Parts: sequence; C-alpha cells; structure tokens
Amino acid sequence: MSNIGEYGKVYQNFNWDISERELGYNKGDTINIGEYCSDRICKMGKGDKLALIWEGFSGESKKYTYNDIRIRSNTIASFLKNLGLKPGERICLFMDRIPELYIGFLGVLKLGGIAQPLFSAFGAESLFTRLEDAQTAAIITQKKHAPKLKTILGQLPYLKHIIIVDDDGSKALREKELAFHLEKEKQIESFDIFPSKAETPSVLHYTSGTTGKPKGAQHVHYSLISQFISTRYVLDLHDDDIYWCNADPGWVTGTSYGIIGPWANGVTQCVLDSGFKAETWYKFIEKHKITVWYSAPTAIRSLMKEGDETVKKFNLSSLRHLCSVGEPLNAEAVLWSKKVFGLMFHDTFWQTETGSIMISNYPGMPIKPGSMGKPFPGITATVVDLKTYEPINKAGVVGLIAIKPGWPSMMRTYWNNETTYQSKFKNGWYICGDRASIDEDGYYWFVGRDDDVINTGGHLVGPFEIESALLEHEAVAESAVVGKPDPINMEVVKAFVALKAGFEPSKMLDLEIMNFIRKKLSPLAMPQEIEFVASLPKTRSGKIMRRLLRAKEWGEEIGDTSTLENE
Ligand code: WT7
Repeated sequence: MSNIGEYGKVYQNFNWDISERELGYNKGDTINIGEYCSDRICKMGKGDKLALIWEGFSGESKKYTYNDIRIRSNTIASFLKNLGLKPGERICLFMDRIPELYIGFLGVLKLGGIAQPLFSAFGAESLFTRLEDAQTAAIITQKKHAPKLKTILGQLPYLKHIIIVDDDGSKALREKELAFHLEKEKQIESFDIFPSKAETPSVLHYTSGTTGKPKGAQHVHYSLISQFISTRYVLDLHDDDIYWCNADPGWVTGTSYGIIGPWANGVTQCVLDSGFKAETWYKFIEKHKITVWYSAPTAIRSLMKEGDETVKKFNLSSLRHLCSVGEPLNAEAVLWSKKVFGLMFHDTFWQTETGSIMISNYPGMPIKPGSMGKPFPGITATVVDLKTYEPINKAGVVGLIAIKPGWPSMMRTYWNNETTYQSKFKNGWYICGDRASIDEDGYYWFVGRDDDVINTGGHLVGPFEIESALLEHEAVAESAVVGKPDPINMEVVKAFVALKAGFEPSKMLDLEIMNFIRKKLSPLAMPQEIEFVASLPKTRSGKIMRRLLRAKEWGEEIGDTSTLENE
C-alpha cells in the first residue's frame, strides 16, 4: 500500500497540519532539522537501525546507526561551538560524498548554524564567489580540497576556520586550518541543540546557475514540514525500505531528499561516493538491495546509452519505486525504464528555491510518459499568461508555471539579494521561470525554461519536445536545441546532437535524423541544422547548459560558467 493512497482525495483534503502532526510538531515549538533527523528517530526506539550505508569509490564501506549519527552530529556541533562559532553563522560543507558531509550537515544545524553545502568539485573561483557572498565563517573540508582555498583565503576576511576532517596529523596544517576526526574525537552523548524556531535560517543553497550568476536560496527549519511529507508521499519511503538518492548534497536534491527526507522518516539510506559508471551503479543496487531510487534524467540517459545488456547482468529485483528530478524526463526514458527495470521513473519537478517537490507523479496515479504529473498536496499551481500573469485555465495552452506562495519549504530570500527574490513574484504567484501546459486531465507538460524557449517567426517553440523527438532516434544519445539568429524569422531551431557509441557523424545520418523527426514535429519546430558534438556542456548537477550553446550562436558573452562541468 502506498503512503499517499489515492492522490485525488489526498490533494483535496490536505493541509500542512497533517505533516506537523505526524512529526509531533506544534506551532510555536522549537524545530531543529538536525534533531528531527537523529535524536527524534532514536527516541522512537530506532537508535539501532541503520541510518547510513556508505560506500567509497574504491569499494570501502561504513555503516552508521541512528544512534551513531545522533552522537557524531553532536560531536561535530560541539566542536564547532568550542571554536566560538555562533548560531546564524554560515558554515560551509565542502566534501566529497563522505559520511562527514551527511553527519556534519546535521551537526551544523544542531549548532544553529546555516549549512552551506558546496559541490566538492568546485575550483577556487566558484568557491570564492559563494563564500564571499555568504560571508562564510568556517568551512569543513578534506585535505585534498583545502589547497583550493590557498589563493582566495586572503580575500575572505570572514572565513575564520578551515576544518579538515581527514587529517592524520602527519602534515603540518596551514593557516586557519584545524584537524577534526569524527571517530577519534571524544564522542558527545548529549549536546544542547540550538532551539531554532520555524523561521530560523537552516540551509543556504546556491542555485546551479544555468541562467547567470549563482544565487543563494535561503531556507528555514520549517522546510522540514514539506520535505518530510513529500518524502513519504512521492518517494513512498516505508520503514523497511533501502533508499538511494544519487544526487550530491552540493545541490538541493542531495539535502532535501538525500539527508533530510529519508532521515526525518527514519529510513536506511545508501550513499555511493563515486562517479557515474553503469556497472558500478547496478552493482550497488544489487548489493544493498535498494528498493527506492531517486535519480536524474542525465543519469538515466547515460544508463540508456550503456545499453540493455548491461542491465541484464545484475539482479535488480529489489527495486520497487523509481523517481527522477532535475531536467525534463523524456518519454523515451520512462518507457526504457519500464522495459529494463519493469518500473517507470516517476518524474518530479521542483527547484532549489522551492525546497521540496512541487509537481510530481505519485505511486498509484497513472503515468503519462513525458508529463511531470500533478501538483503536490498543499501546493496550488497553475500556468499563467506570459504577459498578464493571469491563470490561463485552458487545456494545452503554454504559459509560465506559477505557484501560490505559502508552502513550508519555500526559500525566504536570496542571500544579499532581496530585490531579485521579490522579482520572482507576479500577480500574487511565485513564477518558477519554466514554461508548461496543463492537459484536460490536469497533468503538467514541460516546454522549456523560459529563457530557453525559441521564438521563430513569432511562434514560440520549446526545446524539450524537439529534444525528445531526437532522442527517439537510435543513434542519438543526447541533444540540446537552441535558437540561432535568422534574418527572416528572428530565430530558427538548431539542434546539437551527441551520438551513441558505434555511430559516426555524416551527411547521411544528418538527413536520416531529419527525416525521422519530421514525422514527429510540426514544421515550425523542425531544426534547420544539426551539429554533431562529442558531448554537451552541462552544469555539475547534470543540467544541459543551452544558454552557452545559444550564446555561441549569437556571438554573445557566455556569462557566469562557474557551475560548468568541464570548467
Ligand atoms: C530547474 C530547477 C530541484 C532539484 C534539482 C534542480 C528544471 C527540475 C524538472 C523536471 C523539467 C525540471 C527546471 C527548474 N527542472 N525538475 N522534472 N522537468 N525541468 O534544481 O538546480 O534549482 O533547477 O530545473 O528548469 O526550474 P535547480
């Protein structure tokens, strides 16, 4: 039986008090995410249950119970407190996906600090922009990443401490550096957890920046109310599930649903600290008998590219529920997962800013492959007119995705940038910056990010539909569609295509693909040109950076590229 039961009924009768009640939270109480994710679970009698099964890139493994993460997060919180760090200060977590990252996140929250997770592959410059903007007071990192701070340290007067979690004492520490060892430190059985209230700042997440300078979305402890219940309803976590979220906590999926959601629900989760490799991933699922998996379209397309034979080498029968987020999930990918896993990926739509899932496919609700599904209970969503911001209320008409403000996990501001925050609200709606249409059954269909939409001769064309058509061709591994300048039509459609192994670019293939998609697309949406490329530019969180391809076509400045994968 799924947690949500019948979506339609739940949507009608839902209010956020349901989540508050399930968490045992009463309005006005203190609410600390760190406490809810560890101490509370122990109090429920689950202290000996595994919270984290961790595997490193060379196969080493560690296991932590809820009692282990409770004590160790206390230990980190107490260490930070002894350094003189204060509630409200920004404390950056800059680590690979090692246990210290996950447990440290809870530790920072227990202290009352604002957790600022940053992706460990960032270079000095990307790191600098974000530490400077947040006036970060301390950074928790690993020996191998600390040198990135060397050149920027002089320009970061607010940064007081660099805490190295894996220093074995053999190397002399540099300026401001301190060693901390999660196991060797004196373990703190009880810590005076900061009595945060609903509106106390919790997490500062910098957006992955597909569209310009990264912005720090500031969240509060009350976000737990959304994250807890959406984990139950969408990811459908049950007490005996083994859950895997392959997102890095440098991005919001990796914290909302890679730390907070599963742990506040007292579920065992697995973490794999290694890059993408189909065989390694399948082996991980098989070995740990993973039941619920939250992934992303880029990863799914990479698995598709690897082929069906690879899947067959593994026993993946433990899997029972699959979800996806981050980019549009092409129908092709949903049908593929049905074929090879016997399960469809459930697409979910949300943003760093929204803090939790906004639109989704739910267990038990029929999936229309290619659709993002329907609004989460408690979320009032619609699509609004591009100019008037009035709800369109007409099936099939494209507008901007808009959400009524007021759900618990909404960001409270952009750090240092209240003006941009305010500019996201129009006519009483929060505007996501994405275009979609709603069909007669209430399902949402993604069209493209607002700034990726192509205006060809006054007709608006979304890249998603064209990219999905391209992906159906057997030679196409990935594609990105942008507008290029045209003297007559203002813009025309241009497609960038990366081919699967075994296919070579040629005039013939170009023609063949064009003929193939012609049957699927309206003449307006037909690309004028296909350019074959070895790979597409992506953000480190896996999003295709159409903005970059577009800028090249227009001979424009490419803007901030600090989140570019191959920086
Ligand atoms: C943007 C938000 C929230 C998790 C990671 C992304 C795009 C996200 C979908 C989806 C189509 C999607 C949107 C959105 N996006 N999910 N299911 N279908 N597009 O967080 O980095 O803040 O990006 O990602 O464009 O606005 P983010």
